[in-house]
Amino acid sequence: MLLLIELTGVSKVYQSKDSVVHALRDIDLKVEKGEIFGIIGHSGAGKSTLLRCVNLLEKPTSGTVKVGDVVMTGLSEKELQERRKKIGMIFQHFNLLSTATVRENIAFPLKISKYPKKAIKQRVDELLELVGLAEHGDKYPAQLSGGQKQRVGIARALANDPDVLLSDEATSALDPQTTDSILELLLDINRKLGITILLITHEMHVIRAICDRVAVMEQGRIIESGEVLDVFLNPQHATTKEFVSQVSEELDTEILRSKAEGRIVRIHYMGEMAYEPILYETVRATDATFVILQGTVSRMKETPYGQLIVELRGSQEDTDQIIERLRSRGLEVNIIL
Ligand SMILES: Nc1ncnc2c1ncn2[C@@H]1O[C@H](COP(=O)(O)OP(=O)(O)OP(=O)(O)O)[C@@H](O)[C@H]1O
Ligand SMILES: [Mg+2]
Repeated sequence: MLLLIELTGVSKVYQSKDSVVHALRDIDLKVEKGEIFGIIGHSGAGKSTLLRCVNLLEKPTSGTVKVGDVVMTGLSEKELQERRKKIGMIFQHFNLLSTATVRENIAFPLKISKYPKKAIKQRVDELLELVGLAEHGDKYPAQLSGGQKQRVGIARALANDPDVLLSDEATSALDPQTTDSILELLLDINRKLGITILLITHEMHVIRAICDRVAVMEQGRIIESGEVLDVFLNPQHATTKEFVSQVSEELDTEILRSKAEGRIVRIHYMGEMAYEPILYETVRATDATFVILQGTVSRMKETPYGQLIVELRGSQEDTDQIIERLRSRGLEVNIIL
């Protein structure tokens, strides 16, 4: 796999007369070409600072930042301006020019890049089409919904055909339905244009919907990272567990404990795996029985993902054997009670 973004030992200290803030502490981060990488963390964790260090809008206090073959931290201001054209960025509050039309907003970076006039019109048409705003080119931002404004922001970010798109809470100001449509657009752009996306968010829903890998930030550090599925199934750090629980079905373990006669396990499955026959066959081979207490199906990126809460009734030996066999058939099994 090709690395597209590489941060090594990046720290950022904000120093003023009477305060010192360590916004980033010794960050190492590698983002592969073509992936959607998410960074999640609470407010103040350092996410925006980290993102802005990628295109050097923020200068790291120490460490190196590489994007593609270019060591960003070694560039002059002029060289940086050139390189930044190939790094698109979108924002929570869209940052559109309110006195300019949608077309003019999208054309803005092209004018700066000295695109020929004719080519600008054609490029803007293409971009409007891509983000689904073909009908709205002559409107002003105030005439658009939040989701449409973000589409303009995305079109503008893509104007110069970047290889990277940085997204700072791009869906945080949007309602859930609009959020999903923007996430779908980002996924589409990633697939169709092969653009690598580095996004930050405080919502696990966003990570689950479109990211391949995730890093969790706290107090300027990356405390956990990995494939999204692995982090979902096996969160290590308390903060990660808390984020994962944002999107997991809440289980009332007290109620389960009072009702249950046997052992309660949570079985996760991915893709088209038919878990019920596997469970049935596995349990049938013993003297135990089972009851399904709860089942949910959702999606992780585009793969179906489900969990089943099952009570296994039988001897310790039988239930141990069931759990072991389910695991050996590739199912993730967590013992809850
Ligand atoms: N220009 C600045 N000067 C001084 N301190 C700053 C500056 N920018 C950020 N900070 C501090 O650095 C820390 C990290 O801020 P940052 O904006 O990166 O967090 P964040 O994770 O993006 O938070 P949020 O989710 O609220 O956007 C915070 O303590 C913040 O107050
Ligand atoms: Mg921020």
